[in-house]
Amino acid sequence: MKIDILTLFPNMFDGLFSESIIKRAIENKLVEINIINFRDYSLDPHKKVDDSPYGGGPGMVLACEPIYRAIKDLKKENSKVILLTPDGSLYNQAMAKDFSKEKHLILICGHYEGFDERIRSFVDYEISIGDYVLTGGEIPASVLTDSIVRLIPGVINDESFSEDSFYDGPLLDYPTYTKPKEFMGMEVPEVLISGNHQNIAKWRLEMQIKKTQERRPDLWEKYNDK
Ligand code: ADE
Repeated sequence: MKIDILTLFPNMFDGLFSESIIKRAIENKLVEINIINFRDYSLDPHKKVDDSPYGGGPGMVLACEPIYRAIKDLKKENSKVILLTPDGSLYNQAMAKDFSKEKHLILICGHYEGFDERIRSFVDYEISIGDYVLTGGEIPASVLTDSIVRLIPGVINDESFSEDSFYDGPLLDYPTYTKPKEFMGMEVPEVLISGNHQNIAKWRLEMQIKKTQERRPDLWEKYNDK
């Protein structure tokens, strides 16, 4: 898979993909990640990419031209273009799973006080990572990249993600423990030391249900509707 990230602030991605699992995925050629400055697509002699909003109002607005030219240059037949914006559809694990099957993603990071509305007509998806406003789309683009790349076959052990919260349904993950058996008076649940895999699986599901009911009644309702 190839992921092109269009941004005005390429340095914000420094180091992010050069550690751990994403680094290994790049080294193993399971993914190629390109950070592209869309200022490079500006026709303005000063590489300007924004302007004041029609009708007045504060700040500057990203113009259509550089983003349109960038998409035109990068987009191939099977590319999907995703705009990161707080008014997009709320991102979730099912979307990450779907995006991980694509060949080429182009992620567009918005910035400043917004972007020209017509930019929306060049994209396939508009995605928000949550009901809060960040200074730009760079962190959301990183969130998408990380959550998608780890699902590409071969990037991590299949078992690791098949037991994630949200992987196969809306239940939260069960609690896990490692050595020592007792830490500051807190004991590892007896069942996990029993070696009885059936009981362990039963306990884990019970814990998932309890945690989901307590913390995310919205997800619990979805689980019951399945
Ligand atoms: N840009 C600013 N805030 C955002 C959010 N919550 N999701 C996606 N893009 C954004």
